[in-house]
Amino acid sequence: MRFTKAIALLATASSTLAAPLQARHDATKAFTLDISFSNSPLNGPIQASNGSFYIGKPPSTSCPSDIPDCPPGNTTTFTSTSGLLHLNTEVPGGQQVYISPEGLLTYTLPHSAAIPLGSQVTGFDISPANQMAKFFDFWLCSVDAEYKVWRIWAEYRDEEGAVKQNGYTGENACTMVSLLAGDVEGDDHGAWQYDS
Ligand SMILES: *[C@@H]1O[C@H](CO)[C@@H](O)[C@H](O)[C@H]1NC(C)=O
Ligand SMILES: *[C@@H]1O[C@H](CO)[C@@H](O)[C@H](O)[C@H]1NC(C)=O
Repeated sequence: MRFTKAIALLATASSTLAAPLQARHDATKAFTLDISFSNSPLNGPIQASNGSFYIGKPPSTSCPSDIPDCPPGNTTTFTSTSGLLHLNTEVPGGQQVYISPEGLLTYTLPHSAAIPLGSQVTGFDISPANQMAKFFDFWLCSVDAEYKVWRIWAEYRDEEGAVKQNGYTGENACTMVSLLAGDVEGDDHGAWQYDS
């Protein structure tokens, strides 16, 4: 494993990682967001749990008992229109994905549209040609001492223009990743709702 621990590398990091060309994103379809990074054994779709997105953790989902035919709720899938990103849910009002003022990729909770002031809600365009979630430089940062659970952060510039990536604590590891859309077969929603 070769993980970037040096915060100094942040400033020179670029998002121009090669995108696989074997598949194309169908804009009408729901999709997973799969991490892609050649130097890391980390892989698979990011999963919504407790307000953020993880590798190494199952999604936290639920469905009211009076709903027939609940979606399985064991995957995290998304839809995107006009640069906005949503979780592919059935819950009334939906659930929107955004980047918090601290740079955490996060989502609105069921029955609440609350998004903190200073969050980034647009720019989540998925390129149909290369399936990449553009415009953001994403990092995976470990949250446990065993490096089993990793959380997605976005790198951003603060008001002074300094590059920030707040997933790095000085104690953990972070690695830059691309997020690639993987089209979901069928019309099923990922879950009724994703919980906190
Ligand atoms: C869930 O998120 C909250 C707020 O960020 C945090 O305080 C709490 O520790 C998290 N719980 C788990 C189980 O990760
Ligand atoms: C999710 O659950 C469904 C129904 O039990 C199952 O068919 C499917 O393989 C599961 N998917 C994953 C990714 O675990």
